Amino acid sequence: MIVLGIETSCDETAAAVVTGEARILAHHLLSQLEEHRPFGGIVPEIAARAHLQHIDRMIDRSMTEAKVSFADLDGVAATAGPGLIGGVMVGVMTAKAIAAVHSLAFLAVNHLEGHALSARLIDKVPFPYLLLLVSGGHCQLLVVEGVGRYRRLGTTIDDAIGEAFDKVSKMLGLGFPGGAAVENAAKAGDEGRFRLPRPLRGRPGCHFSFSGLKTAVRHAIAALPPGPLAEADIADICASFQAAAGDVLIDRSIHAMDEVLALRPETRTLVVAGGVAANRYLRRRLKALCADRGITFVAPPPALCTDNAAMIAWAGIERLRLGLTDGLDFAPRPRWPLDPDAPPAAGAGVKA
Ligand code: KG4
Ligand code: ZN
Repeated sequence: MIVLGIETSCDETAAAVVTGEARILAHHLLSQLEEHRPFGGIVPEIAARAHLQHIDRMIDRSMTEAKVSFADLDGVAATAGPGLIGGVMVGVMTAKAIAAVHSLAFLAVNHLEGHALSARLIDKVPFPYLLLLVSGGHCQLLVVEGVGRYRRLGTTIDDAIGEAFDKVSKMLGLGFPGGAAVENAAKAGDEGRFRLPRPLRGRPGCHFSFSGLKTAVRHAIAALPPGPLAEADIADICASFQAAAGDVLIDRSIHAMDEVLALRPETRTLVVAGGVAANRYLRRRLKALCADRGITFVAPPPALCTDNAAMIAWAGIERLRLGLTDGLDFAPRPRWPLDPDAPPAAGAGVKA
């Protein structure tokens, strides 16, 4: 089985060719960072136009490198949501056109399912597993029971963790996106210098909150002597912030493990996925937690944590195997929760 995957839901234009044996034959990605940098964030219209401009080239390149023709494919998978709708439409229309012309299966993939199943592309992780999904738009703990079968245990009641990393980076003048920049700066920093809050730590349940931590970082910066920030100050703030974010992830993951083990004791794996899972400090801490608890820890290589098309092709393969193909009338979805039955997030005084 061979599937072409297309990812255009945010600011990366990506295509990949993956086989049913989990071999990535080709994997190409074009970041639009330069187009968005002057605006300090992603501009949806610019993203959509850039996807339109580059997607054919990414597909060509992937097909050539994989040495396959459209006739060799079994299906075409594209991210069909959630995400910036203009970009999603570009990917979905492209995939539908290829599928229609070459009589291939079309697979409308949930971007979050792409992240969720990426661990099975690099490792044959059996269902069920616990998933910590940490990205620019999401921060969730879920039980992955099977393809298309998710139970959400917790989500953020305000900001996503990647968003918090990006905001901290912006406040410190480290640029956008900021996750990797904050991680790098933190390496030389003293995590004990700034006393930052650990929102929701110790509270029951598995929800997250990051806005208070973000505000505390803003206050800590404001309390420093006026003028340009010293490199050591930047490093200490990054290290203190990253340690606080790490403490929150660990605390919430412990709650999720306890909850899941009580209900489904066969759940013996924690998978971390999404862009923030590329963070080596957070990976180390989660790995240590799992070692402590006798749970297997799986994290895709960093290049498969941030947005890519290999995970979309793989999710397409998993769905195609189960016959879960989609019609060419499938409408892209700007909002598409993995667990639509999950009750709205409530906690920390926030009512549902
Ligand atoms: O999954 P992703 O590529 O896109 C979304 O679906 O959101 O995640 C992007 C997010 C950004 O917020 C980025 O700053 C963050 O992942 N990120 C990191 C690191 N690399 C990327 N956060 C912390 N440490 C990193 N090394
Ligand atoms: Zn993503």
